Amino acid sequence: MITIKRPEDFARMRRAGICVAEVHQATRDAAKPGVSTKELDELAVEIIEAHGCTPSFYGYLGTYPGHICASPNSVIVHGIPGDHVLVEGDLISVDVGAIYEGYHADAAVSFGVGELAADVAKLNDDTRRAMWAGIAAVRPGARVGDIGAAVQAVGDEGGYGIIREYVGHGIGQKMHEEPQVPNYGRKGKGMRLRTGMAICIEPMFTLGGEETAVLDDEWTVVTADGSWACHWEHTVALTPDGVQVLTVGEHVSTDLADNLGHV
Ligand code: MF3
Ligand code: CO
Repeated sequence: MITIKRPEDFARMRRAGICVAEVHQATRDAAKPGVSTKELDELAVEIIEAHGCTPSFYGYLGTYPGHICASPNSVIVHGIPGDHVLVEGDLISVDVGAIYEGYHADAAVSFGVGELAADVAKLNDDTRRAMWAGIAAVRPGARVGDIGAAVQAVGDEGGYGIIREYVGHGIGQKMHEEPQVPNYGRKGKGMRLRTGMAICIEPMFTLGGEETAVLDDEWTVVTADGSWACHWEHTVALTPDGVQVLTVGEHVSTDLADNLGHV
């Protein structure tokens, strides 16, 4: 079911989005060599609670044990915070979801711990650029396939593995709503977007193939070939006042035009 949000619903999602952006900033600042992903999780909980929000991920599907996902290196998504100790050169994705008055926001950033190898730094830049290419395709009347095609074009150009098994999604009172938003597709195909919808656009690219595997913990998604992976995500709303990126910092304009490529 597609849910149509009212401006007051988007205002709640924006409050959740500010919280998510602050968790990203704080975890990034804290992510130095020697710090464990569990410590990042503990920091995240403090910030989420200080905002009067609830973590979206904890207990998801009855079993997710973390409050954020921390996915280093060959982990694509859904890395459970734990005893992985960060080392210089790690590429880590921090994925955060928060709920404010019943409404969710969900976003992920990837960054290097210290200096990244050149090919890994390019993977990170290109995955982020693919996310913005997808976001730039959002407007009332556009199709879900327009987003996928825009993301895929960047991935193909870089020769990356483009993950197909995990996709972006609608968002609102649930973290995962319709429609699914794949990171591949054809322009002009798929569901038409309209005002009142909110979607998460979240490309996942690898330096190798697109095949995935899930570890015995039943959550951690890794590349089948061990290649390193990258993940970026924002929550984007089609409001009556235009397309807004809800998961940017409090003092950043949410207008799409002000944000393209910057955050
Ligand atoms: N951003 C992720 C997603 O869109 C969050 C899910 S993590 C989970 O799927 F632990 F909650 F599953
Ligand atoms: Co998501």
